[in-house]
Amino acid sequence: MSLERSQLSKLWQSDDELFALAQRELFTCVVGDVMDKLDLQHQFLPPQIQPLRRDMVVIGRAMPVLAVDVFAEKIAGIASHFTRHFPAVHMTWGAINEMATLTGYHAVIDRTRHPMLTTILTRIIKDERRHFSFYYNQARRMLQDPAARRLTSFLVRHFWTPVGAPVRGDADAHRMCAFLFPTRESAEGLMEMDAMIARLPGLEWFDMAMRFCFVADDRSSIGSLTAHQAV
Ligand SMILES: [Fe+2]
Repeated sequence: MSLERSQLSKLWQSDDELFALAQRELFTCVVGDVMDKLDLQHQFLPPQIQPLRRDMVVIGRAMPVLAVDVFAEKIAGIASHFTRHFPAVHMTWGAINEMATLTGYHAVIDRTRHPMLTTILTRIIKDERRHFSFYYNQARRMLQDPAARRLTSFLVRHFWTPVGAPVRGDADAHRMCAFLFPTRESAEGLMEMDAMIARLPGLEWFDMAMRFCFVADDRSSIGSLTAHQAV
């Protein structure tokens, strides 16, 4: 039996009615079975997401986000079949992204001066440092090979953008940059990031963090963020 969309929408007029109806008529396994039949096999939330008490029902809209660029991971896997030097690119890319994340978190702390946020981000930064040093050391080792250096330098120069920019778009990334680093004087972290990456073999030219934030970015044309929005 198939129901037209117009028929379906008559069953409820508001979210309250929709949720009440779902609570009354549905249960999780039925929803799961229907979604499987519709070939929606990646939308089901993990079973660990549960109500706080047994007499409660969790219902509402889920907003999944792309926390890790899984598509880039897949592309990396495919590309490594074509060149044995792709791991050097992958490690370098990882080092740049981990460093960018670290730099961004430090700037959030500086710009917001929020005690709770400072505690949380300081812990995350500790973790990110470990990730960074893994990628960086691997990259430095793999970039000893001239062909790996050439490939990595070319791909980074032409394709690297800050973490999150491919998902949220350049405009959002520039707005975030303008909030975190309002002036060149406040962008010491970005300069340190550029200098650190430029110490990798073949990437002596690297200045892409400052370039993204201050050269590619026409600050007069972008909106500003409040601390609350940025967080
Ligand atoms: Fe990380």
